[in-house]
Amino acid sequence: MERFELAKSAIIRAGAALRQCSLDKTEVQRKTGHQDLVTCWDRKIEQMLRREILDAFPQDRVLGEEYPEEPGSLDAVVWYFDPIDGTTNFVNQRRSYAVSIGCWEGEQPLFGLVLDVERSSLYWAKKGSGAWRDSEAICVSQRREISDLLLTTPCIQYTFLEIHPHRERMLKLARDVRAVRSLGSVALELCQVAAGEADMFVTTRSAPWDHNAARVILQEAGGCICTLDGDTLPVNSKTTVAAFNSPEMQKLILQSKY
Ligand code: IPD
Ligand code: CA
Ligand code: CA
Repeated sequence: MERFELAKSAIIRAGAALRQCSLDKTEVQRKTGHQDLVTCWDRKIEQMLRREILDAFPQDRVLGEEYPEEPGSLDAVVWYFDPIDGTTNFVNQRRSYAVSIGCWEGEQPLFGLVLDVERSSLYWAKKGSGAWRDSEAICVSQRREISDLLLTTPCIQYTFLEIHPHRERMLKLARDVRAVRSLGSVALELCQVAAGEADMFVTTRSAPWDHNAARVILQEAGGCICTLDGDTLPVNSKTTVAAFNSPEMQKLILQSKY
């Protein structure tokens, strides 16, 4: 089986397991603090994905959220996965959480898949082949006025309440756009921009497993992504993120000193 087909069948099985699972209070723990949860299901799904990928492609590297990275060649194909993106939503609401799998060869994307688990919607893209939600092609919105934009951000506290170097810009942007939404999942919010349901995305904190699948989908849908400083988004490190429905909006917003 080729890598994409393996990823697709693994993500569908992961989604089915999550939809059926039950979660006891004792199986939810704080990781770095009260705003950062992990459950037994984050760990089970990550173990399942690791096992399936490494059994089929033992020469590849896997980088998931919940377990330390195994040493390996920097030139290898690397899989970035988040077993549950939106763990707080998974615990509190049982909706708006995703499984995310991105596959890269060095700085080159190969493909990305993001499963909106409870809606059973699979967002996916292979480099150079467009972006899809199940069998429907998706593309970014056409909005070009800042006052028309719907801005999404995965964590209100990080983006607007914490003190950080971009805070004043973020507050001004929030005042100038039409509306701000927060779903609570980096991967699903980037897919909302890819599908034209939101026009722009910002976060001050994102990890490779949060965004390396959805960024492939966003770029194949016609969108673009960079850091909040306008630099190229790194593949392998934690970073700020700004994503736009077009290069024109990226230029306009960064030039307007947001
Ligand atoms: C988190 C979610 C959240 C975002 C955090 C992420 P997790 O991922 O995407 O919306 O604000 O930065 O870490 O912990 O649910 O996998
Ligand atoms: Ca995540
Ligand atoms: Ca996670």
